[in-house]
Amino acid sequence: MTKKAKILATRQFPKNVLDRLYQDYDVTINPSLNPMSPEDVIEKSKGMDGIICDPTCLFDPELVAALDDSVKIITTFSVGYDHLNVDAIKGRGIALGNTPDVLTDATADITLLCMLGASRMAYSAGQALRRGDWKSWSPIEFLGTHMSGKKLAILGMGRIGEAVARRAKGFDMQIHYHNRRQVEARGLEDATYHSELGSLLAEAEFLSINCPLTPNTHHLINEAAINQLPDGAVLVNTARGPIVDDSAVINALKSGKLAAAGLDVFEGEPDFNKGYLDLKNVFLLPHIGSATHETRDQMGFKCLDNLDAFFSGQPVPNPI
Ligand code: DGY
Repeated sequence: MTKKAKILATRQFPKNVLDRLYQDYDVTINPSLNPMSPEDVIEKSKGMDGIICDPTCLFDPELVAALDDSVKIITTFSVGYDHLNVDAIKGRGIALGNTPDVLTDATADITLLCMLGASRMAYSAGQALRRGDWKSWSPIEFLGTHMSGKKLAILGMGRIGEAVARRAKGFDMQIHYHNRRQVEARGLEDATYHSELGSLLAEAEFLSINCPLTPNTHHLINEAAINQLPDGAVLVNTARGPIVDDSAVINALKSGKLAAAGLDVFEGEPDFNKGYLDLKNVFLLPHIGSATHETRDQMGFKCLDNLDAFFSGQPVPNPI
């Protein structure tokens, strides 16, 4: 009988994923519901052949340098990989995998929820009901911004951006996007491509951020960018928190430059700028874009597919 490869799981993963992991591998798992500290990752990965991590586990150059030579593959339970220093990991000859495609629909669904939740004041209206402050139907209370038929500007037309665009077309929205290159996606032939960010922002009655976090996109949506939006725009971020400058967003929400914001991700999460909590025109979620049972199982299975292929000498099917 061949020896099972040793895998460190830095988090608790869904049951269906763990069942398959334990069946095929010799598993060391973080017993806690909290992320592992870098020291623990270094210590517990000694003698491991591979690691399954998630976006809370920061593989910076220091941690990567301290990893045991035994570690040959890291697969992250996420499509985003801004928490992984790819150069440092590859420099050590460690294979890398992620989980593209399977979370596209769930994340696009949450983006539409944020667009509607923010623009229709779902948070403050719902709170009023729960507090007992809903006294009567009123012609002038709980008014939001109309979404159907508006211009939706998508920053980053990858898989998730395209899925957001397709959904938004169901709301008769006119799709505009900025991307490194024009895309030829089916069903989006009438979308308007903007090669310059400024030209996209000028059209953005709704702005949806769907690009990865990179050094180029860090704080890309800052005060100057927000000033280029039409007055009363709605901002939605379901990608990564640090793409927006929170102070600039909060100021714009206070001044009315932004009518509302729907945010599923935050700089420094799970901590976040508490200035958002004083605002009624925000719809806030705790990074649940991919949080459905179905999607999280599929993400785990993609990680397992990456491990299975690697340990049977095949190319990693979802390489970074
Ligand atoms: C990802 O996969 O990058 C997501 O942010 C997790 O939901």
